[in-house]
Amino acid sequence: MRIDVLTLFPEACRPYFETSILGRAVRGGLVSIHCHALRDYSRDRHGRVDDRPFGGGAGMVLMCPPIFEAVEAIESQDSRPATRVLLTPQGRRFDQNLASELAKRPRLLLICGRYEGFDERIRLGLAPLELSIGDYVLSGGEAAAMVVVDAVVRLRPGVLGAEEALAEESFADGGLEYPQYTRPRDFRGMTVPEVLLSGNHEDIRRWRAEQARRRTSQSRPDLLDGRSATRDETTKGNSHAESTD
Ligand code: ADE
Repeated sequence: MRIDVLTLFPEACRPYFETSILGRAVRGGLVSIHCHALRDYSRDRHGRVDDRPFGGGAGMVLMCPPIFEAVEAIESQDSRPATRVLLTPQGRRFDQNLASELAKRPRLLLICGRYEGFDERIRLGLAPLELSIGDYVLSGGEAAAMVVVDAVVRLRPGVLGAEEALAEESFADGGLEYPQYTRPRDFRGMTVPEVLLSGNHEDIRRWRAEQARRRTSQSRPDLLDGRSATRDETTKGNSHAESTD
């Protein structure tokens, strides 16, 4: 898979793509990630890529020429067709399902916005998939691009080790993670639930499933998707983890 990121701030993105699991995937040749400076495609000697909005109003708008020329130049660097993605708070909400969809594509071209937004003809002419990572406004699309790249790349075959991939399945299941504990057994009087020390794998599996359901019900009932969110309330207070959560 190849990923291109078009941005005013490539230096803000690069270190993230070189770190941890993403960095390992890049070094292992499982994905190539290229950050491109939008200013390199500016037509004037000051490197300007934005201008005042027609009709007046506050802020600056990203112009068509540098973006179109950048997209055309970047796409011509590789024969695989690129899925164009525009990061914008007006976009479709990015989620795990969309991450799985994008992980199947051979090539992504992420376009990060800044200032007040994009000239509308960028949307009309490039017909990108418009994505938002949440209902809040960031100063630009760079942080959103890092989120999308991270969520997508970890779904590519071979990027996660077997154990990591197994842990990953829990969110793909649609619910939240169960609580995890490691040493020490007693930290400032907060102890590890006995069941996790019991060695009884069936009891542990059931306890974890119940904890995951309970957490999802309490924090993200929307993820339960038709399953009863109130059923959980009847068992509240019976758990080992209740006091340590
Ligand atoms: N650019 C600014 N805010 C954004 C958001 N919430 N998601 C994606 N791109 C953005």
